Amino acid sequence: MDTISKFDSNVIGSYGRYPLVMEAGSERICKDENGREYIDFGSGIGTNSLGFCDKDWAEAVCRQVRTLQHSSNYYYTAVQAEFAETLCKTTGYKKVFFGNSGAEANECAIKSARKYSFDKYGKGRHTIITLVNSFHGRTMATLSATGQDVSTTTSSPF
Ligand SMILES: Cc1ncc(COP(=O)(O)O)c(C=O)c1O
Repeated sequence: MDTISKFDSNVIGSYGRYPLVMEAGSERICKDENGREYIDFGSGIGTNSLGFCDKDWAEAVCRQVRTLQHSSNYYYTAVQAEFAETLCKTTGYKKVFFGNSGAEANECAIKSARKYSFDKYGKGRHTIITLVNSFHGRTMATLSATGQDVSTTTSSPF
C-alpha cells in the first residue's frame, strides 16, 4: 500500500492535504518521495523557521533527547527556564506560556483576554471578535472562533 493510502486508511481526515509525500529536507529545499524538490513558502506553517534540518538545531534537539527527553509539568527543568528567559528578553514580554499547538496558544490568548477584561471591567465583556475566513484551530473555542462555514455547518467532527 502506498503512503497516502496507508495514511488515509488509518488517520481521521481532519485536514485537507495535497497528494504529496515529503521525505527529506535540507536548508530551503525539501524533497518528495520521488526526489522532486520544493521550496516550502509556508515554512511548515511557520514551524520550520530555520529551514529544513538546520544543523545547529538538529544538534541541540539530539543532545537534549539524549539528556532528558521529557519531564512532566510537575517539575522544573533548566532548559525550559533558560528558554523562557531568552524568549522574554527577546520579545519584551514579562512571561511566556508553553503550548503544544497553535490551537492551545489561541485558547490561552482567548482566556487571557477574557480574564484581563473581567478583572479590569467586570462581567459582560466576554465576546471575542474574529474575522471571516479566519482559522484558529480545532479545539472547541478556536473552532467557534474560526470564521469558515466548514467548521460549523458540516457533519465533520472537526
Ligand atoms: C492561523 C492558525 N491558527 C491556528 C492554527 C492551529 O494550529 P495547530 O494545528 O498547531 O493547533 C493554525 C494551524 O494551521 C493556523 O494556521
